[in-house]
Amino acid sequence: MGKPLRVGMCGLGTVAQGVLNVLRDNHDAITQRAGREIQLTQIASRSLKAGVDLGSAEFCTDVLALSRRDDLDVVVELIGGEETALEIVRNALRNGTSVVTGNKAIMALHGNELVELAREQGCSLGFEAAVAGAIPIIAALTRSLAGNQVGWLAGIINGTSNFILTAMTEEGQNFQDALEEAQRLGYAEADPTVDVDGIDAAHKLTILAALAFDMGFRFSDVYTEGISGVTAEDIEYADQLGYRIKHLGITRRTEAGVEARVHPTLVPKRQLIANINGVMNAVLVQGNAAGPTLFCGAGAGDRPSASAVIADLVEMARGIAFLPVKTPNVSPPMLAVEDTQSAFYLRIPSLDQPGVFAKVAGLLSERDISIEAAIQREQAIDTTSQQAWVPIIILTHVVNERVMNDAVAAVQSLPEVVGQITRLRVDQLTDG
Ligand SMILES: NC(=O)c1ccc[n+]([C@@H]2O[C@H](COP(=O)([O-])OP(=O)(O)OC[C@H]3O[C@@H](n4cnc5c(N)ncnc54)[C@H](OP(=O)(O)O)[C@@H]3O)[C@@H](O)[C@H]2O)c1
Repeated sequence: MGKPLRVGMCGLGTVAQGVLNVLRDNHDAITQRAGREIQLTQIASRSLKAGVDLGSAEFCTDVLALSRRDDLDVVVELIGGEETALEIVRNALRNGTSVVTGNKAIMALHGNELVELAREQGCSLGFEAAVAGAIPIIAALTRSLAGNQVGWLAGIINGTSNFILTAMTEEGQNFQDALEEAQRLGYAEADPTVDVDGIDAAHKLTILAALAFDMGFRFSDVYTEGISGVTAEDIEYADQLGYRIKHLGITRRTEAGVEARVHPTLVPKRQLIANINGVMNAVLVQGNAAGPTLFCGAGAGDRPSASAVIADLVEMARGIAFLPVKTPNVSPPMLAVEDTQSAFYLRIPSLDQPGVFAKVAGLLSERDISIEAAIQREQAIDTTSQQAWVPIIILTHVVNERVMNDAVAAVQSLPEVVGQITRLRVDQLTDG
């Protein structure tokens, strides 16, 4: 057995406590697999938590001082946030100490700098916990699927949004009620913006795209749309058409460049990923040798996230210096969302008059947009205008998004269209 891997951990919150507990509970198996003991010698956090057993670790409140110590092999950053966390990671790497972090924001926003710094210093930088909690998707992309060219991947990578959409689907709740339920159960923050607006998912997609396409971290090129515009009606109509609405991060390599986008998406119910519910996460990867592979599991939580942190520590204890991403030597163009191709779901609130559907179909047809399916519902009365209206629901074939934007603007300006058109992207999640 080699000498212990000396680890200092910053933070004593959800994930850090999970790391303490799992390292203790699975001590013998982890030591055996790592080939030596993983010894938590230092912990730094704002405050000591009552009832938390630190084992033999020394405690201090100065996370930056911990990051500069020269008696550690690895610094684990689990404080979250951006500024101090980034400083911790930079300090440790500059000091020649390897780093494990669960922080998707700093990886998405500063990953290029941190990877380069780790490379220069000969350090390892592990961030398995930063994407999809317990799911070993970083290892899958960088090791298990290393023999593939990834064509595309699509993931449910934010548990809060998946919980809300699942509650809306299964219980017919509206967005606000489902959000409040998520907050009551501790699945959503008091300020849920980062989750429901898609920013957290965009951070994670930035990391996945960097790994899948060896192109560096390019957060500012990720198109981001949240779920607050999805209604229970849309979920119901999607269901009638054979689809579920999921909040997906999708990245795809095309001849014109790489697309990376986060948005609510209609996915065929027959796809396994359409059936990943609640706070669970899943990532579907299309490799040109492996074909499609689906990874799913707990996207958050103390022990699931600790499982990922410890996986990185075990690799480092084995003496495998690793950087999951290489400094990119290619910089493929990133496609603006307007230049991507999708099928679309449209919900068009229109007056209940003969000929309206034909007019809408005409405007689509003029732009070569063909209709795959349509539903025209029973009449409703608009409470303000007292006018009778019906929602026209249309599913289109695949079309360039810029063309669709033009078509939606044209339909929206019809006098018979009495409310805002809802437009959602549809993805079959196949190569075809
Ligand atoms: N929670 C999950 O399931 C999960 C899953 C995957 C990845 N992650 C990522 O892992 C990281 C940690 O998440 P978490 O949920 O464990 O967070 P958390 O529960 O909020 O814990 C953060 C810990 O860091 C301490 N801290 C924060 N800022 C500090 C500072 N400036 N100086 C000293 N201590 C500081 C906090 O102390 P006080 O409590 O005393 O303020 C707390 O102990 C984040 O980057 C998160 O995105 C989380």
